[in-house]
Amino acid sequence: MVFGASGGIGSAMVKLLASQGKFQSVYAISRKSGLAFENSDVIKPVKLPDYSETTLKQLSVQISQVDLDLVFIATGLLHNDHIQPEKRLSKINADALAELFNANSIVPILIAKHFSPLMPKNGLSVLAAVSARVGSIDDNRLGGWYSYRASKAALNMFFKTLAIELKRTNPNLIVSLLHPGTTDTNLSKPFQGNVPDEKLFDPEKTSRYLYNVICHLNKSDSGSFKDWDNKTIPW
Ligand SMILES: NC(=O)c1ccc[n+]([C@@H]2O[C@H](COP(=O)([O-])OP(=O)(O)OC[C@H]3O[C@@H](n4cnc5c(N)ncnc54)[C@H](OP(=O)(O)O)[C@@H]3O)[C@@H](O)[C@H]2O)c1
Repeated sequence: MVFGASGGIGSAMVKLLASQGKFQSVYAISRKSGLAFENSDVIKPVKLPDYSETTLKQLSVQISQVDLDLVFIATGLLHNDHIQPEKRLSKINADALAELFNANSIVPILIAKHFSPLMPKNGLSVLAAVSARVGSIDDNRLGGWYSYRASKAALNMFFKTLAIELKRTNPNLIVSLLHPGTTDTNLSKPFQGNVPDEKLFDPEKTSRYLYNVICHLNKSDSGSFKDWDNKTIPW
């Protein structure tokens, strides 16, 4: 199940998973309608009105008979028509902060709340959220981007905490936080100026890298924060 299926990384991951031949269904969850995917016998697009708790709970009830082997959360927000990443303290705005925290921290943990109970207890499964290296507190050298950095750091704390709880309640469920590398999507488009060509991945490449990381996860990796190259990122 992929959340954020209209996005650059989310849509590439939907296509990659469908091409693996090992998933009976790939649920492509999005707030956009009319998503067109080939291989539509495997891909099941689901349009949601929003990612509110009510909506997520309704969907989890509707599909409660399904065993989810992989939940991949590719939702996220850096900028939109009224929000830009803050370069300095004076740009902090309470409404924008709330919107970023909702998109980057609250929605993913609500997805975890309603969909992790559908993940099997008798075989390995993976709940992965796309985080960002700039959410690393240790790695913060440049500053700026207050709300994006802080909301991804909050996401990391949510999922690390969840990993500890799941060790008791479903030790076969691996929780993973992933940094995709700078990827050519709408989210990164305005900020690609200083990124050398070889460091700007197309979404298909990113989805292959992240799927490779996911395939190599084992139980001891639950609660880890890794990059596209399978290297651990400091918190
Ligand atoms: N691109 C990069 O260089 C880069 C680097 C580091 C981390 N990331 C992370 O990678 C993930 C995927 O991003 P992307 O690059 O594929 O960007 P994208 O193309 O903009 O896709 C992001 C998706 O997030 C969902 N979304 C947008 N606004 C939202 C909101 N307010 N609340 C909840 N969901 C919202 C949308 O999904 P639906 O419309 O389908 O519902 C959207 O398609 C994000 O978490 C991002 O932070 C990206």
